[in-house]
Amino acid sequence: METTDIHSKSSTFTFENVRKFSKKTDEYFDIDHLVSREPYSQFKKWLDDVENQQIDEARIFTLATTTKSGIPSCRPLRLASIIDGEGFTFFTNYDSRKGKELEENPYAAMSFWWPSTARAIRIEGQVTKLSSAKSDDYFYSLPREMQVGTVVNVQCKRIIQNRQQLLDLKNKYSGQSQLQRPDRWGGYLLVPHTLEFFQRQHDWVSDRIRFRRLLKNDNVSSLVIDGSTTHQGDDDWVFERLAP
Ligand SMILES: Cc1cc2nc3c(=O)[nH]c(=O)nc-3n(C[C@H](O)[C@H](O)[C@H](O)COP(=O)(O)O)c2cc1C
Repeated sequence: METTDIHSKSSTFTFENVRKFSKKTDEYFDIDHLVSREPYSQFKKWLDDVENQQIDEARIFTLATTTKSGIPSCRPLRLASIIDGEGFTFFTNYDSRKGKELEENPYAAMSFWWPSTARAIRIEGQVTKLSSAKSDDYFYSLPREMQVGTVVNVQCKRIIQNRQQLLDLKNKYSGQSQLQRPDRWGGYLLVPHTLEFFQRQHDWVSDRIRFRRLLKNDNVSSLVIDGSTTHQGDDDWVFERLAP
């Protein structure tokens, strides 16, 4: 049997394909450029900027979760909504790997990266399940094909024999006039305590601004909100620039 030297197969990536940004030199992202002193409006502004460029799937983000013992996993998901002052919602199978991990450890992180604007946002917080009424609203608003796909997904065991099993279920549910939202499929609200806005710059000296929510137990007196490095925002938020 032929043996393979794995080192000869390793690829070193070059920088030829790294995108150059045509931002103007004065288009920095600094405290003065924030559209608000709380992070929700800033998030919506950056998302709008991408969606106004007719970029597909701007609402796709990576969700990171961990097991109770701290083993991480991540996957792409679709942002369903932003609830001002409350958090960010997404929908999934509660019995999926992420659902089980969120059951064990409700702390999670979301990450968006938009190459067209050279911006990234990361969000960290704690999730709670949405009510079944809210999950119903979302499920029944989905296009029919997505409803069928969702029901098929929840019906299946995690490890399956072949694709035909999925197609058989799809045929079964496609024929039903009214589909029910599966009990084990629904929404989560991620309530953020930290959001970071990252703007990559043409000169590689990038800009980063972080919002942190002061929690009731935080020792506020030890935090110097001097308005020069740490700024008092609205609604219990403080914000500051970070080195990139
Ligand atoms: C672009 C994209 C969007 C996705 N959106 C969702 C979503 O909103 N909800 C969901 O449960 N899975 C979504 N998925 C599938 C997940 O990435 C993942 O494969 C699935 O939820 C199982 O993840 P888990 O085993 O880690 O729980 C999406 C996949 C892609 C590629």
